[in-house]
Amino acid sequence: MNKIIDLIPLSVPNISGNEMNYVKECLETGWISSAGKYVNEFENMVADYVGAKYGIATVNGTSALHISLILAGVKKDDYVIVSNLTFVASANSISYCGANPIFIDADPEDWQMDLNILENFLENKTYIDEKGELILKSDKKRIKTIMPVHIQGNIFNFERFKKICLKYNLTFIEDAAEALGSKFKGQSAGTFGELGVFSFNGNKIISTGGGGVIITNDEIKAKKAKHITTTAKVDPMLYYHDMVGYNYRLVNILSAIGVAQMEQLPNFIKKKQYIGNYYKDKLINVGDIKFQEINDNVDHNNWLFTIKTSKQKELLKFLNSNKIISRPFWMPMNQLPMYSRFLYVNQNDNSRLVHDNCLSIPCSTNITNQELDFVISKIKYFFDKCT
Ligand SMILES: Cc1ncc(COP(=O)(O)O)c(C=O)c1O
Repeated sequence: MNKIIDLIPLSVPNISGNEMNYVKECLETGWISSAGKYVNEFENMVADYVGAKYGIATVNGTSALHISLILAGVKKDDYVIVSNLTFVASANSISYCGANPIFIDADPEDWQMDLNILENFLENKTYIDEKGELILKSDKKRIKTIMPVHIQGNIFNFERFKKICLKYNLTFIEDAAEALGSKFKGQSAGTFGELGVFSFNGNKIISTGGGGVIITNDEIKAKKAKHITTTAKVDPMLYYHDMVGYNYRLVNILSAIGVAQMEQLPNFIKKKQYIGNYYKDKLINVGDIKFQEINDNVDHNNWLFTIKTSKQKELLKFLNSNKIISRPFWMPMNQLPMYSRFLYVNQNDNSRLVHDNCLSIPCSTNITNQELDFVISKIKYFFDKCT
C-alpha cells in the first residue's frame, strides 16, 4: 500500500543494523568515552575496507584534514593547493595551520579540480628551488602540498594527477570526505596519497553522527596521528604531553555506531547505485537536465545525486516548497569573504557555473521507490510547466 509522503530528506543516516545493540553495550558497560574496543575496531574496519594499513578515528572530517596537513609538514605561511569548489572545511583546515590556500577551478563536466588549469598554473607560475621545494614565483613562498577533493564521490584521472605531482615535486593529501567506496582503477579513494581523509557526518554514505578517519600506509605517520589527536599524551599517569596536541579522538560510543554502519556499507553502496541509475533512467530526457560526468576507470559511490539545469533556482524553490529537500552546491571558496583575497586560478570561473546550475536531490539509502517516483514526477511536472 502506498503511504502518504511527508517530507523527503536529502541524505540522512540509515540506522537499520546493529547500531542499537552496540550502543547499548557501551552504555551498559560504561565504555562511552575515548577508550574502548569499538574505536580500534572502527579504525581497522575502515582501513581494511579501503585496503590501507592504518586508520585513525577523529571527531570529524575537518579535524582529520587539519591533522593530515600538520603531518604533511604544512607550516605557517606555506601554500596548499586545493579545489575551489568544495565544502568550506577543506579550506578551513589549511587556515588552521596558518597556511594559505591556492584555489584551482573546477572542471565543468566532472566537477573535480581541473587538471589542465592545475598543470598550466604549475608550469607558468611556480619553480622548484635548489632544495627541491616548489615555490610560487610571485612571492617566493613555498607550496607545501596539494589537496584535491573527490567532489560528490567522483575521482579525476588519478594517473595524470600523480604524474603532475611527480613532475613538480608535490606530495598530496586526499580530501576523500565524500568518497568512501569510490575507486579509480580498482584502488580506493583515500589511499593514493600519503594521507587520506573520510567524513562520517550526518549526510555521508555512512554516519557516526559526527566523525572522521585519517587513512595512511605510513606507520610513523599513523602513530603520530594517534598521538596528536589524543593530546600528545606520553604518560597517562603523569599527564606528560610532549607537544601541543589536540583532543580530536572519536569516542567509543560513536565508533560503535561506525562499526554497525561499516557492516552495512556494501549494501548502502548498492542502494546509492540503484538510486543513481533510477534517477538517470527516468530524468535523462527531462528539460535540460544533465548529470555529473563520471570519469573513465572510476567506480563511483553515487554519494549525493546531483543534477545540472539552467532552471536550478526555480527548481530548488519548487522542490523545497513541495517538501522535497534539495540543495545547491556549496558556495565556491573564492566567493566567501574570508577566502576571496586568495589566489583563485581559473579561466572561465566554472566553479560559479557549477554552483549556479546544480542541485542535489533526495538520495538517502532508506529512500523508497514510491518516494523516488514522487520526486521524479514533481521534477517532470516542473519542466512541463516551464516549457
Ligand atoms: C569535501 C568535504 N571535506 C570536508 C568535510 C568535513 O567533514 P566533517 O563535516 O566531518 O567535518 C566534508 C563534509 O562535511 C566534505 O564534504
